[in-house]
Amino acid sequence: MVKEKVNENVNENVKEKIIEVNGKSNGKVSKKSNGKANEKVIVTAALPYANGNIHIGHLLEYVQADVYTRFLKSIGKDALFVCASDMHGTPIEMNAKKAGIEPKKFAAKFMKEHQEDFASYLIEFDNYYHTDSKENKELVEFIYSELKKKDLIYTKKMNVIYCKSCQRSLPDRFVKGTCPHCTTADQYGDICESCGITLKGTDLVNPKCSLCGESPTQKESEHYFFKLKSFSKSLEKWFNTKESLVQPEMKNWLNNWIKNGLDDWCISRDEPYYGFEIPDSKKETGEKKYFYVWLDAPIGYISSTKNLVGNKWKDYWHHGHIQHFIGKDIAYFHFLFWPAVLMAVDIPLPKLTVHGWVTVNGKKMSKSRGTFFTAKDFLQDYSAESLRFYYMHGLDKKIVDLDLNLDDFKAVTNNVLMGNLGNFCYRTLTFAEKNYGKIDDIADGKEEKALVKKIEKLFFDIEKSYLKQDFKAVIKNILIISDFGNAYFQKSEVWKDKDSSVSKAAVGFCLNLARNLSILISPVLPEFSEKVWKSLSLKKLIWKDLGFTWKGKLKKVEKLVEKIEAAKEGESAGAAKSSGTVESSGAAKTVEKFPLQMVVGQIKEVENHPNADSLYLMKVDFGKKIGFKQVVAGLKKWFKITGLISKKAVFCVNMKPAKLRGELSEAMIFAADDHENVSLLHVKKTKIGNAVNFSGLENSEKEVTFDDFLKIKMLVKNDNIYFGDKKLSSKIEDIVVAGVKEGSRVH
Ligand code: MSP
Ligand code: ZN
Repeated sequence: MVKEKVNENVNENVKEKIIEVNGKSNGKVSKKSNGKANEKVIVTAALPYANGNIHIGHLLEYVQADVYTRFLKSIGKDALFVCASDMHGTPIEMNAKKAGIEPKKFAAKFMKEHQEDFASYLIEFDNYYHTDSKENKELVEFIYSELKKKDLIYTKKMNVIYCKSCQRSLPDRFVKGTCPHCTTADQYGDICESCGITLKGTDLVNPKCSLCGESPTQKESEHYFFKLKSFSKSLEKWFNTKESLVQPEMKNWLNNWIKNGLDDWCISRDEPYYGFEIPDSKKETGEKKYFYVWLDAPIGYISSTKNLVGNKWKDYWHHGHIQHFIGKDIAYFHFLFWPAVLMAVDIPLPKLTVHGWVTVNGKKMSKSRGTFFTAKDFLQDYSAESLRFYYMHGLDKKIVDLDLNLDDFKAVTNNVLMGNLGNFCYRTLTFAEKNYGKIDDIADGKEEKALVKKIEKLFFDIEKSYLKQDFKAVIKNILIISDFGNAYFQKSEVWKDKDSSVSKAAVGFCLNLARNLSILISPVLPEFSEKVWKSLSLKKLIWKDLGFTWKGKLKKVEKLVEKIEAAKEGESAGAAKSSGTVESSGAAKTVEKFPLQMVVGQIKEVENHPNADSLYLMKVDFGKKIGFKQVVAGLKKWFKITGLISKKAVFCVNMKPAKLRGELSEAMIFAADDHENVSLLHVKKTKIGNAVNFSGLENSEKEVTFDDFLKIKMLVKNDNIYFGDKKLSSKIEDIVVAGVKEGSRVH
């Protein structure tokens, strides 16, 4: 039969490809063991849905993939980290409709936020794209036409659930009803949460449309199917080969899935849908059909590559290696659907690494427990590198959940990252810079020689662990080296006889250790490492720069690690817990409040007030929750328009709106003033929309008048701002002024 013949051919091709791919990968890529330093590798992380914000659960995977790619680059691979936002699908279409905007625009807004969030966690993509792109459309259509040519697509009439009042067919997830298996009511049409059985929407007893509550009807609709079943054997063969490197837990699941039998895969969806229209679908089925999001999303990996390197994408996808990082929830798509599609179009199969779930304090993240942190929230309290370090400190290749226990996180940041690694590098660099400024000798006695030997063995182990994606072992071994360093520094007692050549050479040895550590840890802590390099008057270092021969000039080192302060921890734990406590006890504790609601805003536009010579009219952005406000401010005497635009500053946002010379002012800008100079309140790291407080004092949101405002006395001391003895700060930094006299008032 034609069908079988085609598939046999396909599978033959695949076999060859697998051998070819695996022939290149013997798991060793060290300087010595691997001649192919310039081998091409594509690394991907799953494409996040453009339907919500990135949270700390997502971040595990993006950090994991980023660390791995940075490492590959460090050892000289031609590795590219590509990703995209996943723009298509029903939820995006529906939420865009609710928001009254086009799905494309709706998704684009989230894509932009995804990019900002990733950048703030130092996740460095070579390309970040979107799946509703022209490259993706072309590739999807091309691949679909290949599948059709190879007789791997057919259509079949099936019953779908249709809601007359909403005038749409409903995906399984959008119907609710009684589980036919265990009779639990109120279950979604895709899975019963009570007995765990997978369902189809049409299985539910007494189904209701989850959008409007009406009882939906069934409708016949013709859909497109991909012959997944015919790939069962070749898929099974693939993931059971040793070279596929499939994690053992995964192998078990996969073999079970295959054993239970694969179904062919429905790749089309009815209107309305945000996705690519299936060519000729109207002609073939009488209705427009769209590609199911899970067909075009993985193809987005390729189109993001293509968008970056043009037609050279084939050098990577046909002749290089592909490494996907994914969460366990999307394994089915990546181990069955996606490889089958790839086999069908003769693209070699990828390597896949699956990670477990991030939990917080031992439980699923939850808004009511105060343990659901968006990427942005988390940065208010903690630094990006402390999270990167914590995740990698706990992540190996086992598919187990990774718990972000906030007490443990504090301990790892303060005692391990800062107390061990940070401490060694910082004290060495500071000591050397302060006392010598320049190093021209490196201790090389018996003790040092023995240490070097041990440490060089660790370099090799660390490289191997990075390659195996056992980041836990990487960190463990790096910490052994910094332990050696701390012990050596301590024992040398260089501070006792600072100026002796012996001390100086010992410090020279320590500086080389710090330099090596900065190379080893750079995939995990890129900023930390950069600060070390800057202090050694060096530019970017890579793996082959490891060694013990550095001599040179020193510059003052910046703070390497942000300590998690007890106060900060108290604040965040308090913030996280308060809603719960208040809810359950029913009595909110009365907190002393500061009458002004002080928030960070960014000045977006400035123009001259039409009726007043000394006033400006500004448009200020206060982020999502508060939005834009117009502010009238008497700053013209002190600042040029260009000096204000895009500046962040602190504003009072609970002012009763008032007209000033005919123009509405909805907030006040704070400034310190000594009659000669005026300084705005400096905001460096705090994000737009975040609060600024006098230590421990909560801001009131009750409206205040201009007169109320004038009664409050805030003074400058030491460039800080005080209300009584309470200092002004955001959760991450003190708010300061510059260039005004001590005792100036803040208005
Ligand atoms: N759009 C799909 C992926 C398409 S890939 C061709 C998707 N997006 S997602 O935004 O829901 O998830 C993106 C990745 O984040 C997935 O790999 C998912 O497993 C991971 N995680 C989402 N929440 C997570 C945790 N709480 N913990 C760990 N990983 C989590 O799925
Ligand atoms: Zn409905």
